Amino acid sequence: MTAQISFEMQARDGLARTGVISTPRGEIRTPAFMPVGTAATVKAMMPESVRATGADILLGNTYHLMLRPGAERIDRLGGLHKFMNWDRPILTDSGGFQVMSLAGLRKLTEKGVTFKSHIDGSKHELTPERSMEIQKLLGSDIVMCFDECPALPATDKAVAESMRLSMRWAERSKEAFGDRPGHALFGIMQGGVTPELREESAEALKAIGFDGYAVGGLAVGEGQEAMFGVLDYAPGLLPEDKPRYLMGVGKPDDIVGAVKRGIDMMDCVLPSRSGRTGQVFTRCGVLNIKNARHQDDPRPLDEACTCPACRHYSRAYLHHVFRSQEIISSMLLTWHNLHYFQDIMAGMREAIAAGRFAEWEAGFHAGRAAGDI
Ligand code: GUN
Ligand code: ZN
Repeated sequence: MTAQISFEMQARDGLARTGVISTPRGEIRTPAFMPVGTAATVKAMMPESVRATGADILLGNTYHLMLRPGAERIDRLGGLHKFMNWDRPILTDSGGFQVMSLAGLRKLTEKGVTFKSHIDGSKHELTPERSMEIQKLLGSDIVMCFDECPALPATDKAVAESMRLSMRWAERSKEAFGDRPGHALFGIMQGGVTPELREESAEALKAIGFDGYAVGGLAVGEGQEAMFGVLDYAPGLLPEDKPRYLMGVGKPDDIVGAVKRGIDMMDCVLPSRSGRTGQVFTRCGVLNIKNARHQDDPRPLDEACTCPACRHYSRAYLHHVFRSQEIISSMLLTWHNLHYFQDIMAGMREAIAAGRFAEWEAGFHAGRAAGDI
């Protein structure tokens, strides 16, 4: 018997929700933060270390993996979970968004998109059907619809046409996905910052019917105020009993603001990428380990953090290995950042369950205002 994917809501506090998505590969506690493992690795981290930070699920990318090493190859080698040694759930993005931001020379038609690889210039095509096929070859647990995300600012007409194309692609994605017990397909809402278009998109997706619903087309340069403006109504347009996923977000305060507005899942490269550039997220705000003021500092990054970087190393050491471009610098800072993001999620889950989200949120903002970092 093949288990289905289900979402059980356990508590609500205001619009914030906490629950569990159950999959054959394990449970995903929500609100959930998904570390990004674009090229079959969360850069600088062993999979068991990613798990140790508290992650229940990773994000992988259709676009990168189709180009290198190739979806058929990963399938022959036993699928993405085995390939990268991560046996828990994986969500894969569908590729369209990455084509638009990374690929060279692209051509968009009703059928799909043709583009040149950013790696070697080779020519490729992605359609809703091919994206579903690739995500199946990878063995993804949560498959995303193939969509198009217009760069903002754009005219209402351009955003409307793009959204309607994405909705036609959503229908083709659902048809091509078929019936796959134990695997979920999520729709992606588009519509920019225009309420009528967001509503039209939500209605189209609900009519098709998905296992979960993403809010796409945000964090593309519109700024936090405009993003929260959309999140003030967009989650409410989606089914109450299905997971809601905000794609590509964000900074700690974006994540907290999104959960407050009814979002259940998020992903972002920020904690892992920042770990490699020396930007460190803590309860008290952001610090840059490159700064000379850390060179004699025996304190950990964050006294209260229980990650290996904070338990065993000083800011002085982390400054030194960053300056020396030692590989352990990326490892330790990435671990700390991912641990901190997962701590935020755990804190929110607990606070929502206890009906104390507002107090938790006040504490979160107060810590960052204190400023002693
Ligand atoms: N990642 C961030 N935003 C988006 C989006 O709108 N669509 C997809 N597919 N991925 C994203
Ligand atoms: Zn730490």
